Amino acid sequence: MTVVLDSRYHQNGSPQKTLGAVYTPPRVASALARWAVRGVSNRVLDPACGEGVFLAAARTRLADLGDRQPTCLGVDIDPLAASASGAICRDFFEWVQLTPMFDAIVGNPPFIRSHLFPEGSRTIAFQQMREMGLHPSRLMSTWAPFIALTCKILSRKGRLAFVVPEELLQVGYAEELRHFLLSRFRRVIVCFPTPDLFPSVQQAVVLLLCDNELSGPQGLLTIPFAHLEDGPPYPVSPAPPWEWCSKWTHLFLSPKDRETFSDSFRQLGFKPLREYGRVEVGVVTGDNGYFILTETEAKQVGDEFVTPIICGARDLKGIRLSNDDFRLLVKRERPTYLLHTSTPVDELPPKLQERLQQGVEQGVNRRYKCRNREPWYAVPSVWPADALLLRQAGEVPKIVHLDKKYASTDTIHRIRWKQPVLSKRHAVGFLNTWTLLACEIMGRSYGGGVLELMPSEANNIPLPPPLSNLDTVFDNVDEKMRLRRFDSAIELVDAVVMPPRVTHAQENDCRNILSKLIRRRKTRENGDG
Ligand SMILES: C[S@@+](CC[C@H](N)C(=O)[O-])C[C@H]1O[C@@H](n2cnc3c(N)ncnc32)[C@H](O)[C@@H]1O
Repeated sequence: MTVVLDSRYHQNGSPQKTLGAVYTPPRVASALARWAVRGVSNRVLDPACGEGVFLAAARTRLADLGDRQPTCLGVDIDPLAASASGAICRDFFEWVQLTPMFDAIVGNPPFIRSHLFPEGSRTIAFQQMREMGLHPSRLMSTWAPFIALTCKILSRKGRLAFVVPEELLQVGYAEELRHFLLSRFRRVIVCFPTPDLFPSVQQAVVLLLCDNELSGPQGLLTIPFAHLEDGPPYPVSPAPPWEWCSKWTHLFLSPKDRETFSDSFRQLGFKPLREYGRVEVGVVTGDNGYFILTETEAKQVGDEFVTPIICGARDLKGIRLSNDDFRLLVKRERPTYLLHTSTPVDELPPKLQERLQQGVEQGVNRRYKCRNREPWYAVPSVWPADALLLRQAGEVPKIVHLDKKYASTDTIHRIRWKQPVLSKRHAVGFLNTWTLLACEIMGRSYGGGVLELMPSEANNIPLPPPLSNLDTVFDNVDEKMRLRRFDSAIELVDAVVMPPRVTHAQENDCRNILSKLIRRRKTRENGDG
């Protein structure tokens, strides 16, 4: 019988891409199967088996354990893959509704992004996740429901061993799944494969191993790939999640570095930024090129219809924007004034009416953000901030104190402090090794090595208390930052915020960890690897 591959899976891209196929080298499949399959009578499943590399590894493992006729069950939606591996050709999300329990579930579930996740599959998958008490999100790639639903059919003493995208450790939509795994299993072990194992894969992957083993360390753990491959006794290192961070990105640090950082961090008494103020997004104009004017343009439309605004990280050299700095930007004809009015057109001066007419001719009024507001040129949420926080940083993230309050565009976050008089201390205090380390752990990085912090993440960044001594180093740190001498700036701040309990050795170790994390962001290395 020929089974026709469901056409939904072939829309919008190559079959391999839409089927989320990232193939696993036999070496990795063998290591995972050896860990997961422990008894000769184990029932083994690969829920998205492709051409069957895990099935072959599991059969070998069962044979090694003494099984004369090892059988393992595979499921795959692709008829070619299913027939090659002797698997059941079904959509796993349909098939899983009526299936018995397994002792070992191994595999490499598909990584199909949310926009390509076929609607029918998603509906069935999400319905079953809700029945498990979970709250699936439409942002989810397929690997997330694959993990959740395989847990449903794994026996209490069973083992799960998957290749999953590294984003499991950090994406917001997997936060509940991360908690779920830690409550469902006594051990959740993450293993970073060495770079040579998945050389051609664009998306970084980790190995996820879960079970209810009673002996040894429990909770979130890590194991280097070499130890996994060596087989028992599988020495693992504890890596409990940090309570101030909802992600598992601390796993990017080696066990020793995790310990060093959390030992000293505990002694600091830093508080999350939200205790001192609030970070919010900058102004969304809909078209910065049109709405943000140079001084010459601003003069033409009239002072009362513009408000000063900062629109690029390149305009923020140090940790302070002084009145002189702003004047210099204005003089250089940088865009520094936001067109800001909601007055009806016919009540506006002729020059401004002319500019608005040009906007209509250029189609600015039909832009997504503009067409949804009344009138189209009334930019909302324009409020001046006490300080700014770079949304994206190439080197180190920073808070910039504003001598005068300004708004910013959405490439820069705005901060309102509970006590604006402490603004300078917060800006300079932010530049310490521990806060910057926390930024690396809590933020996200994309290609190109840039670190991005969203307001929800930034509001949780731990900040030192606004000690009066910070005033004494402010100007010096500002100067060093302007000269891009980041390390010297950080050392100056560390010397002030470090309580005597933290030793010089700990301080140095933490600085090295920060350098490693920045290097990793730029080149992508891993802690245990
Ligand atoms: C990453 S590949 C895994 C291949 C194999 N496990 C390996 O590591 O070499 C993902 C597989 O998932 C299959 N797949 C995609 N969506 C599926 C679904 N809803 N149910 C079952 N299989 C699916 C694809 O056909 C593809 O073979």
